[in-house]
Amino acid sequence: MTAALHVPEGGASSEDELTRLARDVLPGGVLGKFRFAVEDGFIPASAEGAYMTSIAGDRYLDMSCGGGTLVLGHRHPAQMAAVDAQLLKGHHYFSVVTEQAIRLAAMIRNVIPCAELVRFAATGSEATYYALRLARAHTGRDKVLKFEGAYHGNHDIGVISLSPTSDAPFPTPQPNSAGIPRELIDSTLIAPFNDLTQAQEIIERERDGIAAVILEPLQRYIPPVPGFLEGLRETTERHGICLVFDELVTGFRLALGGAQDYYGVVPDLACVGKALGGGFPIAAVTGGREIMALCDPKEGGSSHYVYQSGTLNAQALIAASAISVIETLTTPGAFEHLHALGNRMREGLDEICRRLGIRAKAYGVGPTWFLAFTDHPIVDHRSSRAADAKKLKAFHHQLLKRGVFVIPGNKAYLSLAHSLADIDRALEDAEVALTQMDG
Ligand SMILES: Cc1ncc(COP(=O)(O)O)c(C=O)c1O
Repeated sequence: MTAALHVPEGGASSEDELTRLARDVLPGGVLGKFRFAVEDGFIPASAEGAYMTSIAGDRYLDMSCGGGTLVLGHRHPAQMAAVDAQLLKGHHYFSVVTEQAIRLAAMIRNVIPCAELVRFAATGSEATYYALRLARAHTGRDKVLKFEGAYHGNHDIGVISLSPTSDAPFPTPQPNSAGIPRELIDSTLIAPFNDLTQAQEIIERERDGIAAVILEPLQRYIPPVPGFLEGLRETTERHGICLVFDELVTGFRLALGGAQDYYGVVPDLACVGKALGGGFPIAAVTGGREIMALCDPKEGGSSHYVYQSGTLNAQALIAASAISVIETLTTPGAFEHLHALGNRMREGLDEICRRLGIRAKAYGVGPTWFLAFTDHPIVDHRSSRAADAKKLKAFHHQLLKRGVFVIPGNKAYLSLAHSLADIDRALEDAEVALTQMDG
């Protein structure tokens, strides 16, 4: 046995040592697809509110917010108090139903329009996976229609046509990972986001085989055009197809009831997570009683029973934390603040780009933002490819140099812990970053 590497605390040498160790023990030196390698940035030591501090002692305004999980910011006092209190009582009871899980499910049912019954999972990927399984069981059909460029998690369908670089004719699926069974690829249909006519044509043609139409109501950073969600709702309903809203990003963020509340279109099933967990691993699939009851274990053994289970689902600790997240989001003015932050950031970026003559536009809804380096309107994945990805990364690297953190190349998130003054400071840094992108 090799002795564990001693990593000295504090100072640049420990960051260097950890960086070397990361390269040695993690594939690519990173934790996943987001290649925010330690040598690109910093190693966080602590965080509070809207700020993170690195082990080298540098302070960063956090606009990644834990990939959208930290809607309250880091270490919100109410959430930490709920976690501390639950830790003293016991944090996990496996599949024993806890008061925390029951109360949390009831809160979700009360705020999400489509929710009658709730099933918990640990990640968003599991939630969308289960939603599609429920849809197949409910309809007795196999095919799934998803929109090009949408992400629904790390499972097979989640990464089909996630980021294709060639323009195959719709509805041809293009896998973005090796190892996906051919049959699954062939049973996935792809449509362009925001193109209701094309989506409806595909649905009409394939209607007897389609179990579900799944979408991100706000696809990555692209808002739905007026009528798109409504049209999908009408068409899927007419053909008995389950409409699934993947609300991992929009849930508990655009409004308490998510995008379905914000846009006023109610799906059959919805998946939530991210913000709900406030940084802890919890997600849920929820929907109407008839569909959701298919995973009632008393159906076990019947041909329509849907298997859904997980060792870590709705741990008492995490459910207690999620309850406090929802309670905090229900305080008056919470969503007004989240939207005001996002509006100020997007409008500020647009104004700076106009003034500097930079061809770019800020996208996003609510407390999210993304600067696309193109003046071509972005309405779907193919039009999003006009945006200059290299410039975006250079912009994010310049922001990082100035102490504003966004995962390079990604959408940014804001939280209740951010103030309008934080946004103004970020805009000042953005203006300098935009003029120094070649440096
Ligand atoms: C829209 C959407 N769906 C699903 C997922 C997968 O969630 P998780 O990473 O919790 O598995 C994500 C994650 O980024 C997402 O943005």
